[in-house]
Amino acid sequence: MAWLVEELNRHIYNYHVLDAPTIPDAEYDRLFKELQELESAWPQAVKNDSPTSRVGAAPIPEFSQVTHSVPMLSLNNGFTDEDVENFDRRVREGLEARQVAYSAELKFDGLAISLRYENGVFVQAATRGDGYTGEDVTANIRTVRVIPLRLHGDEVPAVLEVRGEVLMFKDDFARLNQRQRDAGSREFANPRNAAAGSLRQLDARITAQRKLRFFAYGIGRLEGAELPESHSAVLDWFDRLGLPVSKERAVVSGCEGLLDYYRSIGERRASLPYEIDGVVYKVDRVADQAQLGFVSRAPRFALAHKFPAEEALTVVSAIDVQVGRTGAITPVARLVPVSVGGVTVTNATLHNEDEVLRKDVRVGDSVIVRRAGDVIPEVLSVVLERRPSPAPAPYRLPETCPVCGSHVVREEGEAVARCTGGLTCAAQRKESIRHFAGRRMMDIEGLGDRYIDSLVESNLIHGVADLYKLTLDDLLKMKRLADERDGTTPETVKQGKVATKWADNLLAAIAASKNPPLERLLFALGIRHVGESTAKTLADWLGRFDLVRQAPAALLRVLPDIGGTVAEAIAEFFAEEKNQREIDALLAAGVTPQGEHPPRAQLREKLEEVNLLAALGIPKLTEPRARQLLGAGQTLDSLAHLNVFGVFGLPAGVAAALEEWMVEPGHREQLAALARLRAELLAQLPVEAAAEGHLVGKTFVLTGTLPTMSRDAAGALIEQAGGKVSGSVSKKTSYVVAGAEAGSKLAKAEELGVPILDEAGLLALLNS
Ligand code: IVH
Repeated sequence: MAWLVEELNRHIYNYHVLDAPTIPDAEYDRLFKELQELESAWPQAVKNDSPTSRVGAAPIPEFSQVTHSVPMLSLNNGFTDEDVENFDRRVREGLEARQVAYSAELKFDGLAISLRYENGVFVQAATRGDGYTGEDVTANIRTVRVIPLRLHGDEVPAVLEVRGEVLMFKDDFARLNQRQRDAGSREFANPRNAAAGSLRQLDARITAQRKLRFFAYGIGRLEGAELPESHSAVLDWFDRLGLPVSKERAVVSGCEGLLDYYRSIGERRASLPYEIDGVVYKVDRVADQAQLGFVSRAPRFALAHKFPAEEALTVVSAIDVQVGRTGAITPVARLVPVSVGGVTVTNATLHNEDEVLRKDVRVGDSVIVRRAGDVIPEVLSVVLERRPSPAPAPYRLPETCPVCGSHVVREEGEAVARCTGGLTCAAQRKESIRHFAGRRMMDIEGLGDRYIDSLVESNLIHGVADLYKLTLDDLLKMKRLADERDGTTPETVKQGKVATKWADNLLAAIAASKNPPLERLLFALGIRHVGESTAKTLADWLGRFDLVRQAPAALLRVLPDIGGTVAEAIAEFFAEEKNQREIDALLAAGVTPQGEHPPRAQLREKLEEVNLLAALGIPKLTEPRARQLLGAGQTLDSLAHLNVFGVFGLPAGVAAALEEWMVEPGHREQLAALARLRAELLAQLPVEAAAEGHLVGKTFVLTGTLPTMSRDAAGALIEQAGGKVSGSVSKKTSYVVAGAEAGSKLAKAEELGVPILDEAGLLALLNS
């Protein structure tokens, strides 16, 4: 058990902190399960740094209080170069030094936390609270994978209280909000709120599902070891102890050094994977820090140099609504232009009707707007004292779509109201074409918003398939309209010349978009709830467009990361007749996804009847009940012809629910169709490892971009020939197939002497 704990903790560190996994996921899962089994057999021997404790403890009624043994203070803020010069001057005067070395680091925009380790073992975590007492969030912090449950190495002190920041990375935040949206739950305003909301969960199992991160930046209490001589050495020590520290730290000299660091971080700020609200300077020598001491609640030896405020005060001149691709109506505040963090803001989203009412935003109000990173600016709050009198009327959402005049409806339990016009609504048509042509979708270069507007307004295109029917004349006509409308007719055109080069280029770009990878085409279709990652899952697992088109919700639901709502949305989209027509028109116009391949071999397990049966959403039919039914000799198909379910030993309620479900129109057919499709799919699956194919027993790792096929397509061919595809290179890897821009996996293969193939080499091997 001790060995397993150590081994698993090492793998967690390699995976989550170093981002360099050393074993395949399946092997990790196997070891984890083995430990779980041992622990349930010998509960008295469970170690307190066991990774099994990371799944989250049972909910608690409230957090208990923790008194910080060393208070958690705050920092003085500076905003201008002058503030920094003054800070440096006071430090130099205090130390009677000519030039001072500083540790410069990031000011993470998360929540401060204190972690207590006793003899290297994590024992307690507390929030900052008022600086003197915080809340005990030990169970929640255990679930944060980047935080070690035991410190590494042999420099472990008797007591170490680590201070640092808990935060959420931007992409994890986006994924979380997508999940919240899909589940119809409230979205978080920014990564900081999401991190705070996730950490302060009384149910740590919820925290465990949120991907929190941590960076260490200081020491609270230390016993049984010498404090390193400088702050930069403390950070290096943290790194050796296995605690995450940001790589963006530096030791710089004097005021010039501080300002250079500030500017260089400012330039890279947007590309960092997490949000920061400034940088922090700390006098590097610990003895000097002590000499400078504290003023009230902040150290004299440190300064937070903040980036310009990202909030500003302005006035709402109007509230309009925007109609999105799916008809979603979003209220938007038109603002008296104001500079927020260096960018002029004229519009801010109000999210939805409830938000406008909750914040009670009215035309004429003074409001605080906030711009966080690269997200759309939003109205944070109204400054009520400045509301004009007499007070303007409260906001009401329009009852009809301002673009097409169709009814606006808001379904029960939904936060958003929608225009019911569908593709007859020009706004929805424009948005769906914009989405379709986008860079991460079909990537039609040169088809800007302005032209899409004209194409739709002049009735040249009604749906995305019409893009592929456009002629040179259409485009010239459309451009003339756009130029006239915007008053931007070029001189040459006024002189009677025709600018065809632009139109030629656009036609070429449209033609060039005809063979996208399947996942891009799926994403481009604009199916509700289908983002890039869901599109990729569909393409990876099903491989072919026609299969995705006919897959019923129950089948989609058994695919990884596709839940009920998403599965329903996809199936509904493809069932809709006008969508079918649009897709047929696309195919007829020559749009064909490239790199289609047979479904993944692993689909076989997912397609087990019990999974499909449980995924049908029949009330009360849980997985164990589904298993029971099938165990009694039934199949999906036989069930479709059954009338009485009371004979399988099922509880009466379950049998009744089944009987009820079966009599609903269409349900039996649905079940029979699912059984048929399952059989069809199974027949198409590449044969797994077994005896077939000449690559049985060979393991491949694919890396980089191959010249003509996607990695998924190459993987499918390998699996068809009996080979296996793995994600990481080890001594056991038979071949690494490397394309352009292959990185660490290629290097690893070279290091281990694993044979390396290019695409041609792979094809030769497959055909040999
Ligand atoms: S040092 C005695 N370093 O900023 C000084 N704080 O206003 C203790 N913060 O609540 C703080 N990044 O949550 C320090 N690199 C960093 C930081 C940092 C973010 C936060 C911290 C604290 C606040 C201080």
